Amino acid sequence: MENIVDVLIVGSGVSGLYCALNLDEKLNVLVVSKSNLKNTNTYLAQGGISTARNNNDIELFIEDTLKAGQHKNKIDSVSILANESIENIDELIKLGVDFDKENDSILYTKEGAHSINRIVHTKDNTGESVARTLINRVLERKNITVYEDTFLADIIKDKNSCIGAILIKDNEQINVFAKSIVLATGGIGGLFNNSTNQEILNGDGLAIAIKNNVKLKDINYIQIHPTAFYEEGKSGKRLLISEAVRGEGAKLLDINGNRFVDELLPRDIVSKTILKKMKEDKSLYVYLDVTFMEDEFIQNRFPSIYKECLKRGTDITKEYIKVSPAQHYFMGGIEVDLNSKTSMDNLYAVGETSCTGVHGANRLASNSLLEGLVFSKRCAKHINSNIESININTREIININKSVKEITKENQEIVIKAIRKECGDNYDELLNCR
Ligand code: SIN
Repeated sequence: MENIVDVLIVGSGVSGLYCALNLDEKLNVLVVSKSNLKNTNTYLAQGGISTARNNNDIELFIEDTLKAGQHKNKIDSVSILANESIENIDELIKLGVDFDKENDSILYTKEGAHSINRIVHTKDNTGESVARTLINRVLERKNITVYEDTFLADIIKDKNSCIGAILIKDNEQINVFAKSIVLATGGIGGLFNNSTNQEILNGDGLAIAIKNNVKLKDINYIQIHPTAFYEEGKSGKRLLISEAVRGEGAKLLDINGNRFVDELLPRDIVSKTILKKMKEDKSLYVYLDVTFMEDEFIQNRFPSIYKECLKRGTDITKEYIKVSPAQHYFMGGIEVDLNSKTSMDNLYAVGETSCTGVHGANRLASNSLLEGLVFSKRCAKHINSNIESININTREIININKSVKEITKENQEIVIKAIRKECGDNYDELLNCR
C-alpha cells in the first residue's frame, strides 16, 4: 500500500498532537501511533506544566532550568522555552484545557528546584487532561488523519533528505511519502527494569536515527525520578508519586522515620540521596509522608495518586507511602536545532525523542510538557513556512520482510548498545535502579 501526504507525524504524545494542530490546515497530515492515542508518557504526566508566571519571571525561570540542568543546557533553547511558555499555556487553555483555579485565577504549584510556584496543573492528572483535549481537537480536524496500532519500521531517504517512512499496520507494509516527517516517538523507559514510563516506549525513533546516521546528542543524560511507588517484587512500569506531592509539603523519611534530605532539591540530587540512604539502611525503599495533611486536601488535590495507592493497599491519608527511585525521563535524543530540525533534511524530531539541549544533564520538574509544546509549535511553523519549496520523488520500496517484533528487538539492542557506550557502567546501575 502507498500513501502520499504533506506531513507525517509519528507519535501521539503532546508534541506530536500539538505539532499537528499548529500545522497549516491546508496541509494533508497523517499522525500515526504505534499503540492507541492515549498510550503515551504525556497521558501519565501528573505534576503539571511549568511556565513563567509573567515577563518578570522569565529570567528566574531560565536560571532555575540551568541550575537544575547542571549548566549543561543549551542557553538559546532555554531562553526560547521560558520566553514562549506563557503563549503556549494560553493556547492550551484556548484549545480547552481547564487548569485548576481558585476564584477564576490559575493556581500554580511548586516542584523541586523551582524558586517560586510556577506549575499549572489539573489536579494530579495534568497529562491526561492535556492529552484528552489535544486528541479531541485533532480528531475534529478535517486535514488530519490518524492511524493507530501502526508501527514505524524505517524512514525512506533520498540522499540526505527524508522523503517518507515505512509503516507496518496489521502485518501489512504501508509506504508513506511525505514532504516533512516528524518523529515524536517518545522516551526510552521500556528499556529499563524500573521506569515510570509506558512500557511500549523503547526508543524506536532513536534506533531509526542511528540506523540512518542522523545525529544524536547527550544520550548519557537519563533522569531517575526519586519517588515511584514501591511494591515488593514489582518491576517494569512503576506508579509515579508526583513531585508535586513534595511541592505541596510531603516529607521524605528513612525507614526509621527520620528526614534525611531537602525534598525540593533538584531531582537528580534527591534521587541520589535516596539511593545512598537505601544502601546505608539496607532497605528497598524510603517513605513519603503526607499523613499530616488534611484528608480532604489529599483526596481533592491528588485524587489519582490517592486511589492508585489505595488499590495497592496503602491509604496515604493514614500510612507512609513506600517509594524508591525509577527511570523517568531521557534528556538526550535526536539532536535538533531551534526549529526541531534534525541533521537530515525534511526530518524533524520533537518531545522526548529529541534533544533540544533545553534540559541539560537533569530536567527541571514539569519542563517536559512545556518543551513538547514550545518546540513542536516551532517545528510546525518551520514546516508551514518551508513546505511549498519541497518536492519529493516517490519510488518503489522493497518489502522489508520483518515483523514488528523482530524490528522492535533489533531497535532495543541498537539503542541499549549506543547508550551503554556513552554511559559505561553507569548504565547497569541505571537499568536496575530501585
Ligand atoms: C511528576 O509529577 O513528578 C513528574 C513531573 C515531571 O516529570 O516533570
